[in-house]
Amino acid sequence: MNGATVLDNRVGSHSTHGPIQVTARIVVNRQIATRIWLMRLECKGLAQRIRPGQFVMVRIPRPSDPLLGRPFALYDTWLDASGDIAGIEVVYMELGRATRQLPKLNGGETVEVWGPLGHPFPEPFIGAKRVFLVAGGIGQTPFLAHARELMGQKGYGGQPLRDRGIEVHLVYGARNASFHAGVEHFRSTGANIHLATDDGSTGYHGRVTGCLEGLLGPDPTRDHIFGCGPEPMLEALAQMVSVRGLTCHVSLETPMACGLGICFSCVTKVKTPEGWDYKRVCVEGPVFNTSELVWPDRHSLVD
Ligand SMILES: Cc1cc2nc3c(=O)[nH]c(=O)nc-3n(C[C@H](O)[C@H](O)[C@H](O)COP(=O)(O)OP(=O)(O)OC[C@H]3O[C@@H](n4cnc5c(N)ncnc54)[C@H](O)[C@@H]3O)c2cc1C
Ligand code: FES
Repeated sequence: MNGATVLDNRVGSHSTHGPIQVTARIVVNRQIATRIWLMRLECKGLAQRIRPGQFVMVRIPRPSDPLLGRPFALYDTWLDASGDIAGIEVVYMELGRATRQLPKLNGGETVEVWGPLGHPFPEPFIGAKRVFLVAGGIGQTPFLAHARELMGQKGYGGQPLRDRGIEVHLVYGARNASFHAGVEHFRSTGANIHLATDDGSTGYHGRVTGCLEGLLGPDPTRDHIFGCGPEPMLEALAQMVSVRGLTCHVSLETPMACGLGICFSCVTKVKTPEGWDYKRVCVEGPVFNTSELVWPDRHSLVD
């Protein structure tokens, strides 16, 4: 584990060894869709620990702006020529101060990375027959490794390969066809792919929740739903599954400062017997059962 700093074992990790901080060499940084890039990082120790649903913080070392790292989901791990695990891949969308600088970094340059952080996706409930991975915007990123793990194609974090024997469906919505990133990676898993676009340029014409609704069928009680994407999409998904009494976990994309449970910049509201409380998305999440989340009162935010 050359050059790796072991971070506090008590926080942020579901793996046996806890998070580490490393300086990772960029091996690949290439555009794969409109404003969306795939970055392959050399970070063996971290890659050996991370599981689908967990994330890493990435910080560009040189500029002082932005000072803070940014969270990115594990997209996949990659293997070197001899078949040994060598690092991780993240897929990012150009959005603001950090993600607009990332595409300028070339192969051979380095970034600071710490992780694995947060909890992995939970197992589908016992008896589940189908899993729907419902993604909006850049929300597909945690689902490639999740699909591969569920289908027994790849082990992560030292877990043995195990095919759950469950049908896996990706339901992936984007603004238009040019924003669909990495669809070929998902196709290569053999998962069922359902695309949706707001403008109808490919697949279902409309919101991803509408596309999902058409796929559930009359008795969806053996379906386990996982979602990731913008908060309004996740809220719509939560309402939909609540009406049908379905099990649904979502991965939140809340902005974060430390990723380690220290700063409380990432809190989300959860239900408690007394009413509600805050939980830190970086430590207690980023994956939550939708039945425990309290969504923001958008009307009062607008007022
Ligand atoms: C657990 C987790 C996993 C994530 N995985 C990925 C991933 O795999 N790929 C990816 O592209 N992104 C992912 N994100 C979101 C990503 O971290 C943000 O897009 C990124 O931090 C933006 O940084 P920036 O400096 O470019 O933008 P900033 O300059 O910080 O922000 C630009 C604008 O975007 C808004 N903003 C910032 N962060 C978010 C956010 N999370 N949601 C909504 N609006 C935001 C700001 O308010 C501001 O208006 C993830 C977030 C979390 C919490
Ligand atoms: S990001 Fe600092 S506590 Fe979650």
